[in-house]
Amino acid sequence: MTSSPGFLLSFEGSEGCGKSTQIRLLAEHLKAKGQTVEVMREPGGTLIGEEIRHLLQHSKEGQALTPESELLLFAASRAQLVREKVRPLLKSGVFVILDRFLDSTTVYQGIARGLPLASVQAINAFAVGETKPHLTVLLDLETATAWSRIHATGRELDRMESQPQAFFEKVRQGYLQLAKDEPARIAIVDADRSPETIHGDILNLIETHRHAL
Ligand code: TMP
Repeated sequence: MTSSPGFLLSFEGSEGCGKSTQIRLLAEHLKAKGQTVEVMREPGGTLIGEEIRHLLQHSKEGQALTPESELLLFAASRAQLVREKVRPLLKSGVFVILDRFLDSTTVYQGIARGLPLASVQAINAFAVGETKPHLTVLLDLETATAWSRIHATGRELDRMESQPQAFFEKVRQGYLQLAKDEPARIAIVDADRSPETIHGDILNLIETHRHAL
């Protein structure tokens, strides 16, 4: 856990879990309270990270990525983000909200893609160093519900969204296992409720974790 004066909160969950809505509601709430807030997404958040994001998610060339190079690209984006943005922001007391962080790599590349977990964890550790979230909110949703939400949008699906439903079930179970392994950091929030109810739960979690710092 980081010892800096800011607060580092990461959001995790499968596609369709409502992460973006919750991040928006939280950022608006904190700003209204006078808190300086920075929201960044992974992969991305820096110029280099956004280039990597394009390669990973949307470019034609990205279709040929092997699971190993995919893992290293996510880690490269994260290593850049942590040093260029997250650490300086935390140092100056900013509330940093990350739309995905290292747990995404453990779950998507390690558990769902099946890369050796020890290697994934070593690469994650190298990418983030001491910079770990104070709190991680896991928005948990049944795979079938998440699946129909993604497909109901009607937009073109990206490389990861086009995976079969079984892949997303692995993602869900992987996240639940991580939350079991690290209950002090990762809080499971039932994402199958109204956005306002979920938002209220998240505010309570933050309150508790900030007091514990
Ligand atoms: P999203 O943030 O818009 O959901 O898109 C990011 C996609 O990249 C999502 O499908 C999850 C995937 N991803 C990984 O596979 N590993 C990672 O380490 C991260 C940050 C994202």
